[in-house]
Amino acid sequence: MINLAAGTVDREIFTSPDVHRQELEKLFTRSWLFVGHESQIPKPGDFFVSRMGDGPVILCRDDRGGIHVFLNSCRHRGMKVCRYEHGNTALFVCPYHSWSYTTDGKLQGVPQYRTLYAGTLNRDEWGLVEVARMANYKGTIWASWDPEAPDFLNWLGDAVDHFDHVIDCRDGRPGGAEVIGVHKWVFPSNWKFAAENFLGDSYHNPSHRSVDMVGMSASAQAGQRRDNEYAKGQRVWVGYPQGHGMTSGYVPDDVEYTPTYQQYPEVDEYFRHCFYERKRRLGERANLLPLVGTIFPNASYHGRQPRGICVWHPHGPTETEAWRFFLVDADAPAAVKDVPRRYYMRYSGPAGMTEQDDMENWLYATAASKGTIAKRYPLNYQMSMKLPNATHLGPGEVATQMTDQTPRNFYRVWQRYMSGDNWDSLLGRDIQPMLRAAE
Ligand code: FES
Ligand SMILES: [Fe+2]
Repeated sequence: MINLAAGTVDREIFTSPDVHRQELEKLFTRSWLFVGHESQIPKPGDFFVSRMGDGPVILCRDDRGGIHVFLNSCRHRGMKVCRYEHGNTALFVCPYHSWSYTTDGKLQGVPQYRTLYAGTLNRDEWGLVEVARMANYKGTIWASWDPEAPDFLNWLGDAVDHFDHVIDCRDGRPGGAEVIGVHKWVFPSNWKFAAENFLGDSYHNPSHRSVDMVGMSASAQAGQRRDNEYAKGQRVWVGYPQGHGMTSGYVPDDVEYTPTYQQYPEVDEYFRHCFYERKRRLGERANLLPLVGTIFPNASYHGRQPRGICVWHPHGPTETEAWRFFLVDADAPAAVKDVPRRYYMRYSGPAGMTEQDDMENWLYATAASKGTIAKRYPLNYQMSMKLPNATHLGPGEVATQMTDQTPRNFYRVWQRYMSGDNWDSLLGRDIQPMLRAAE
């Protein structure tokens, strides 16, 4: 279904129930997946109910401060042990027959244990099902159901160079982000249309012509939907051996702050200060300004305006549940959290003007690819394949013009998961030595 040599992709991967079922079994049970952010569960007993693939999970902090991710399903008859989106609890008490679980997942209470179960039920064996691997990277929580999954940072690879700037403070201090809200909504599209858009599909700008004309950027500049900090730099596109892909801007050393949110002097001043403080702290690394990216397979981000992580949960072959986690610096003044919050909402989410443009594309692309005749015609991923300065780009190599190299790379890795490849293959270890040799 993926023809890398021709640069084509079969439409079946966006519509087929069988492909969808195989994705759930072979991809979503193995890959690291974004679950939530530590700032959502600051205190012991705090929980946030999340998803991994097609399964509901609970992200929670136990009474000793440890973080866990559990399948949200009772071991007795399968009822959800937690029916709320977030909150705080000492115990997860199953609503069905009242088995109860501690916040570190142990089965604690079994009604009428002595009369009905004594000697037959070993409570240690019937705790909540916990993920095989969990990682807390600068407050972002990731998990995998595969005990063989590599360490999170090996799996993230060099994509960390871009992703760090999304989750670090605006002034360059590591970590320190806070989730100020999560938008959730369902739309009738395959999840991969959304994921591949965030790999750096800069070609779809015409879709956003109306929001650019409105000038809904933070500085309310006509002709822009976000302040163009990247104008004086070089845009780059890169797809990594592990399947992640992104586009960022690389600006010169002497680039100055782009004024933003000027209607709110306190907010403008905050971002001005952060801009120069970040340069001072990070030196050359501050020249990289992330725009958008997808961390394989279904966690995408907006790097700066707006700023957040979104997850494309697969609901069915032609249905996706989108979750957008909006990020601010946790220790920023209240106005610096509130003003961008409103900008984020008018840009992203179900009511966001830019997001609405994107969703129209994805859902009609899905609808128009279901038909019998449509399925005979594959989709085109040939951009920049034949041009002299982009022809031979491989995973981990940086393109300086728009390219379908990032989605081609994404589907190359997708195909490896679908083929049941081992982790050496999924991490692109056969590719990385070639890259090192080329350096
Ligand atoms: S299903 Fe949970 S106690 Fe029976
Ligand atoms: Fe878009």
